[in-house]
Amino acid sequence: MNLDISSGSKLEWLNSEDIRPYVFVREDMRVKNPGTLIDLNWFPHKPLWFNPLHMDEVSYANQILNMEKRAFSESGMAMPRWVFYDCAIMPGFVAGFAHKTKTLPLEMQVALGGKSDRQWTPISLFIIIPTMNEGEWFAHNLSSINTLLSKESRFYGLGFLTKCFGLWYANIETCCGATQWTSPALKLHSQFGAFEVLTAYTPAHDYAHTLTYRLKVDPVYWEGFFAKRPMGDFSKLYVEAGFSVNPYKEDSLISLQRKIEKHEGPFFLSPYELRDKPPGEVLKVYKAKA
Ligand SMILES: CC(C)(COP(=O)(O)OP(=O)(O)OC[C@H]1O[C@@H](n2cnc3c(N)ncnc32)[C@H](O)[C@@H]1OP(=O)(O)O)[C@@H](O)C(=O)NCCC(=O)NCCS
Repeated sequence: MNLDISSGSKLEWLNSEDIRPYVFVREDMRVKNPGTLIDLNWFPHKPLWFNPLHMDEVSYANQILNMEKRAFSESGMAMPRWVFYDCAIMPGFVAGFAHKTKTLPLEMQVALGGKSDRQWTPISLFIIIPTMNEGEWFAHNLSSINTLLSKESRFYGLGFLTKCFGLWYANIETCCGATQWTSPALKLHSQFGAFEVLTAYTPAHDYAHTLTYRLKVDPVYWEGFFAKRPMGDFSKLYVEAGFSVNPYKEDSLISLQRKIEKHEGPFFLSPYELRDKPPGEVLKVYKAKA
């Protein structure tokens, strides 16, 4: 699938010389054959690489944490510094997009609380860490500067494309993650493959109304984010399970959770329905066709 990144399109920014994907991983964990699992030509520029274990790169780590803290300020879920080190830099893959600092728009400078003296300023972040299951990873953080900007100043699709870049570059086969049922981020996380609900009610998390998901990464679905119409083979492979889930009703989440625990699933949500409906709407639950 080709993305329209030509001049005048909403995604023109991807082509800009002022913007680059970046990878912030240990030298011995650099991806050997990046972007070989999925055939994709969405990212025209070679990624920047910074080594998080080098002292002089601490200022880049500081910038990432600064952007992330501001992006998560409303939800109160900013990542503690030691979590960034122990649970991201050491075991995982950290990536995103960076903007040339010299040409960083004023609104971005204000949103970030100033301008750094480094050549590049991170404007988005995706972190994914491996789980004990073969080929399975956990998406631990997604954030973008867009959330701090006026609508006119945003780079459309920055958050979504940040996750696309990370999944593509690091050759991720299976992606899990956790998000809150009423979060607008659900619209993004659900567009990467058939979206299985692993937990619907999650009291082990700070927020019990957290949904844990798992999906087999399938680029055919990615297009659905931009096209806003059903993509992939979801409607051929999955059928309605005969009930719905109400993201705002705790008893509805617990009822789905009980069904999952009794192995009545696996249960899925429709990527198209999640893309189409405003956050918090009642959603149909699906099962794989027998
Ligand atoms: C969630 C987040 C990463 C999305 O990134 P983004 O760059 O803002 O979003 P994108 O440009 O990629 O996607 C744009 C689409 O998502 C929707 N969207 C994104 N954030 C939204 C929000 N807060 N409320 C409503 N819609 C939102 C946009 O309306 C747009 O949809 P449209 O095409 O139908 O208009 C970003 O808002 C963020 O950093 N939020 C704070 C941290 C957070 O909650 N992270 C997710 C943790 S699970």
